[in-house]
Amino acid sequence: MTNYRIRRFNPETDIEAVQLVNSICLPENYPRFFFLEITDKFPEGFNIAELEDGFKEIVGYEMTRIERGLSNYGFGICKKGHIISIAVLDKYRRLQIAEKLMDAAHNALRLRDVREVYLEVRESNQAAVNLYQKLGYQQNKISKHYYTDGESAIIMTSKI
Ligand SMILES: CC(C)(COP(=O)(O)OP(=O)(O)OC[C@H]1O[C@@H](n2cnc3c(N)ncnc32)[C@H](O)[C@@H]1OP(=O)(O)O)[C@@H](O)C(=O)NCCC(=O)NCCS
Repeated sequence: MTNYRIRRFNPETDIEAVQLVNSICLPENYPRFFFLEITDKFPEGFNIAELEDGFKEIVGYEMTRIERGLSNYGFGICKKGHIISIAVLDKYRRLQIAEKLMDAAHNALRLRDVREVYLEVRESNQAAVNLYQKLGYQQNKISKHYYTDGESAIIMTSKI
């Protein structure tokens, strides 16, 4: 059995491990300052999954930003959560780690009075689409050629 815990990202100790997971799992990689900016603005919205053995390996992360934009569910401008990136190392998938990371992001957003959330996902990424649908997200629109390789993104939104 794999025991893990979800905890807040610590920029002092976790940045290299998170950048490694990001680079292994996703083609969208970010410079160090980007991770630091995200955690600086909304620390509770940046969480990692860590194994609970002696090595405490970081095997997953999610990072989230709070933005302002047109509401998908009401009228006018509101605060919106934006799930910027989430990934779990291959070996530790299907253990509900991503679900728990998303829960942590949603809880952190609610505590900041954010009631809706959105994200982009590649059209071909069925695993991630399934994850988001399981959590109540719905397809909102398609952003054509969103990614640098030309693939389109599905924009998914949810109330939280
Ligand atoms: C998408 C990803 C984060 C899921 O992580 P995970 O920890 O394995 O996901 P969970 O175990 O929490 O799965 C939750 C649900 O997601 C869906 N899901 C996850 N992986 C799936 C897969 N390979 N195939 C189909 N559905 C999948 C299922 O509905 C699953 O629920 P279930 O186990 O009860 O069937 C992971 O596959 C990953 O890191 N992929 C590469 C990076 C990536 O694509 N990030 C998302 C960018 S938008």
